[in-house]
Amino acid sequence: MCMRIEDHIIIGKEDSGAETVEITVDGKPIPAKVGEPILAALLAKNIIINRYTVKNKEPRGLFCGIGQCTDCAMIVNGMANVRTCITPVEKGMVVNTQFGIGGEGNG
Ligand code: FES
Repeated sequence: MCMRIEDHIIIGKEDSGAETVEITVDGKPIPAKVGEPILAALLAKNIIINRYTVKNKEPRGLFCGIGQCTDCAMIVNGMANVRTCITPVEKGMVVNTQFGIGGEGNG
């Protein structure tokens, strides 16, 4: 199910003209628009957990949405702690849920 708003009652139709590409999230392909925040593509597919905390292994997801809190951090193209709310989509990105500090073995 896609949660993307394509025709908003006030701002109208989504017509950015951005190319739709595929990114891989935890091994599964999802559609995304080039240049939109990774987090937007995830939310459009109802993926709301981005990482689990180090100490208590609690889930975290969108909180500030402006790159300040790190709750949306994920492993992107092998790099841990990437804030997905401010990182634009690029074709072929590989995104994984981050467990703890996301080090070797992602834990
Ligand atoms: S949601 Fe806070 S840094 Fe991304």
